[in-house]
Amino acid sequence: MRLKGRVAIVTGAAQGIGAVYARALASEGARVCVADIADPSAVAADITNAGGEAIGVNVDITDPASVKGMIDQTIEAFGALNVLVNNAALFGALRPGPFDQIASAEWDRVMSVSTRGPFECIKAAIPHLRRAAGSKIINVASTTPYMGQPMMLHYVTSKGAIIALTHALARELGSDGICVNALAPGLTMSEAVRQSFTQDRVDANVAVRALMREQLPDDLVGGLVFLASRESDFMTGQTLVIDGGVILK
Ligand SMILES: NC(=O)c1ccc[n+]([C@@H]2O[C@H](COP(=O)([O-])OP(=O)(O)OC[C@H]3O[C@@H](n4cnc5c(N)ncnc54)[C@H](O)[C@@H]3O)[C@@H](O)[C@H]2O)c1
Repeated sequence: MRLKGRVAIVTGAAQGIGAVYARALASEGARVCVADIADPSAVAADITNAGGEAIGVNVDITDPASVKGMIDQTIEAFGALNVLVNNAALFGALRPGPFDQIASAEWDRVMSVSTRGPFECIKAAIPHLRRAAGSKIINVASTTPYMGQPMMLHYVTSKGAIIALTHALARELGSDGICVNALAPGLTMSEAVRQSFTQDRVDANVAVRALMREQLPDDLVGGLVFLASRESDFMTGQTLVIDGGVILK
């Protein structure tokens, strides 16, 4: 129960890795807002049925009014906010391809969800995060900017921006005692990856790991709970890479 008494929002948590994050935070005692543009009610109900506390909230993180609604509903249900996990992004819906075939509108859509979305969520959450002691912002990045992953230029650029945002915001919020860190997963076998990646692409990724097996969403839970807990109170502006040992730094 390392998160007892804490209140967390996880965006993009109706399924995939976000759902695993929400369940993990709840099982450590956090009260959790399961937020997504897709229906989050099943994940929230799973948590409640397992003895945890959760609400499901429909949100479009690109829409400031919708984001305000997510924050308001969380405060109304739980009275505070300590942890914001910016996990929602355009990922599973994207298909790889050469950069000069990415339509400008699709580029804008990726930036708007995956880079501006976390910014909108942080902006709306900040008054409450400032009020609580030991607040944490966890931005889900990716190892793709470090790898220079080809054929997903919009996605990779959006996640590189998330790492830059994490650095600069950590300095800006240090005097408030708020830790801002990023979590950078390697290729992880979420529903989206199982559906859209060929086994050859997965195998090629596994082959360059020090730990040569497929990465599962559960492999990210230890790092996430650490970043959400008071155990990481003197760590900010960092990117925690969890990828089985591809990026070594
Ligand atoms: N799976 C991987 O290999 C991998 C690797 C590195 C980083 N990541 C990152 O981890 C996160 C989760 O990955 P995943 O595999 O579960 O991806 P996913 O595409 O399955 O999940 C993204 C979630 O975000 C939600 N979402 C999309 N647009 C939204 C919006 N406008 N408002 C609110 N919610 C919205 C979707 O409904 C979905 O539930 C993403 O940020 C992804 O970029 C994934």
